[in-house]
Amino acid sequence: MITFKNKKILVTGASSGIGREVAIHLSELEAKVVLIARDEDRLKETISLMKEPKKHKYFCYDLENIDDISTLVTNCVGYNNLKFDGFVHCAGIPAVLPFKVLDYKKFEKVFKINTYSYLEIIKHLSKKQNSNDEASIIFLSSILEEYPKKAQIPYIMSKVSASNISKAISLKLQKRKIRVNSVLVGSVHTKMVEDTEKYRLLNNNIEKTNETKHKPTCKILSTREVSNMVMFLLSDSAKYIIGENYFIDGGIFI
Ligand SMILES: NC(=O)c1ccc[n+]([C@@H]2O[C@H](COP(=O)([O-])OP(=O)(O)OC[C@H]3O[C@@H](n4cnc5c(N)ncnc54)[C@H](OP(=O)(O)O)[C@@H]3O)[C@@H](O)[C@H]2O)c1
Repeated sequence: MITFKNKKILVTGASSGIGREVAIHLSELEAKVVLIARDEDRLKETISLMKEPKKHKYFCYDLENIDDISTLVTNCVGYNNLKFDGFVHCAGIPAVLPFKVLDYKKFEKVFKINTYSYLEIIKHLSKKQNSNDEASIIFLSSILEEYPKKAQIPYIMSKVSASNISKAISLKLQKRKIRVNSVLVGSVHTKMVEDTEKYRLLNNNIEKTNETKHKPTCKILSTREVSNMVMFLLSDSAKYIIGENYFIDGGIFI
């Protein structure tokens, strides 16, 4: 049975969707959770849904602000003087942009939130004063890496570049046995998917795509189904799973 008793875990994107579910699930498995997102009301709502709400702490932070992430991590460690045992990067934004309007500036925002903030958090969290040996790090990526939809190039690039360095970062952090793995997620009905589909519908140039349309066997996942995979990879049961990319796709590839 997986337990995170006496473990402290950082979850970004905890105000909504998969990140909210991961935070709730971790609390059920006895972890102390630090939640990060921008929307205070929704963060409070997540905390109210968690087991032992007083055990957890939220920080409102805009991850576009890369320069202050060092201070953020210091504050997240400092409020109870406990080091981290894990980090799950669920914060992410979609970017549906037709190829013809793309220029390098359009990549910046999506890369800041999806990719650079993740690397910056790892850089500071993996310092000895901020984390324990054998900490585990999970990046939430997407099956779009392997099964692309139209007009998603910046989003896919941001995900590929973060998930494909799991091995390199694990190698760098090998001495401290800190492991990094990625989960490539299929379709989950969350705010992000609603926003993406709304944009597609508004824009006649981008056809509405629905991967389940031609795939009757493919399942839309629940946030708990994704979180189950995250819990396993975070836990000591996955101690020797290092630098890998795991798919949870609902059967889209069969
Ligand atoms: N849903 C899917 O089908 C699916 C599929 C594949 C991969 N994923 C990945 O799974 C992760 C979670 O997605 P989701 O569907 O749960 O999305 P969601 O419900 O839209 O949640 C996104 C989270 O990211 C946070 N966030 C966005 N911009 C931020 C910023 N600038 N600073 C700090 N936090 C920010 C949001 O919080 P605030 O707005 O409060 O800041 C929210 O908590 C994402 O990385 C996504 O790419 C999702």
